[in-house]
Amino acid sequence: MELAAGILGTGSALPEKVLTNLDLEKMVETSDRWITERTGIKERHVAGPQDTTSTLSVKASRKALEMAGISGPDLDLIICSTISPDMPLPSTAALIQRDLGARACCAFDLAAACSGFLFGITVADQFIRNGRCKRVLVIGAELLSRYVDYKDRATCVLFGDGMAAAVLGPVTPPSGILGSDLHTEGLYADHLYIPAGGTAFPPSHETIARGDHYIKMRGNELFKVAVRNMEEVSRRVLEKAQVCASQVDLFIPHQANQRITEAVRERLGVAPEKVYTNIDRVGNTSSASIPICLDECVRAGRLKRGDMILMAAFGAGVTWGAVLMRW
Ligand code: ACO
Repeated sequence: MELAAGILGTGSALPEKVLTNLDLEKMVETSDRWITERTGIKERHVAGPQDTTSTLSVKASRKALEMAGISGPDLDLIICSTISPDMPLPSTAALIQRDLGARACCAFDLAAACSGFLFGITVADQFIRNGRCKRVLVIGAELLSRYVDYKDRATCVLFGDGMAAAVLGPVTPPSGILGSDLHTEGLYADHLYIPAGGTAFPPSHETIARGDHYIKMRGNELFKVAVRNMEEVSRRVLEKAQVCASQVDLFIPHQANQRITEAVRERLGVAPEKVYTNIDRVGNTSSASIPICLDECVRAGRLKRGDMILMAAFGAGVTWGAVLMRW
């Protein structure tokens, strides 16, 4: 029988500290009203000095493993989607593997910014369907507060920290991943980037003085591309699977901006009550955003067997993609 890859367990972890819009009003020239109206965000979680991407990822992963009824040594593959790794070397996936007590299975990081979780589960889907892996852990983990310039009001109000994980394994069709469509367009690389800290501009007193280790974003231009690409890629995935937007039970878009979510939802013709958002509490957590939403839905009992889930993302690179799955 043909194999399909499905989600067997989910888990998430948010740092304890909450940074509200009122806190930000005291840090930069902004207002709760502007942030709420322009983005939908009211608060976001930020990591403490003791937290790292891997430590919080391990917390999220343990919850996902527990829900799936397995433990670290059962894993065949670990994929950690992150643009905020613990350190350049080794991969954050290697640190997570060590701390989960997983066996010497393949573990690697994947960098596709906010689309990373969808890239990750699509890779996992290939390994599961061709029979190479039975249990794959896919993590979306970001600690972007370490890269945010809290003097730049255009970006510091948007991003939050968070991690989430999903265990994937073979399931019996018609459940499982039905289709996926992923893209990257490097022509827009400078629309959202961190100039320094890599090989192009290694960290130096000069790069730090210029603030080149912080996120730079052309938000206004990204907004339009995000709406257009998330709509198009969602349509393509639905068409390929011969599923109508009205058949979608749950739409989880990347939480970048409530206005982006609303525009994509409206263009696709998905009913408002079918869309999940938590941007008001969590902000933009990049590649963790979709799996955090997914975990909240699973734990709230919002998903039942057979439900059709559409997930769509857009992020730095630029990258974008959509995945359709039946629960
Ligand atoms: N508080 C108050 N005013 C502000 C703030 C703020 N925090 N930020 C910007 N403004 C001002 C600007 O200076 C500008 O003022 P001006 O008119 O006097 O020049 C005005 O508000 C409007 O600025 P815009 O940038 O045009 O505001 P916009 O409505 O586009 O909202 C935002 C900005 C929220 C960034 C939006 O463009 C957005 O969400 N873009 C998409 C981001 C995205 O999708 N990123 C990709 C995914 S993230 C990832 O991959 C990691």
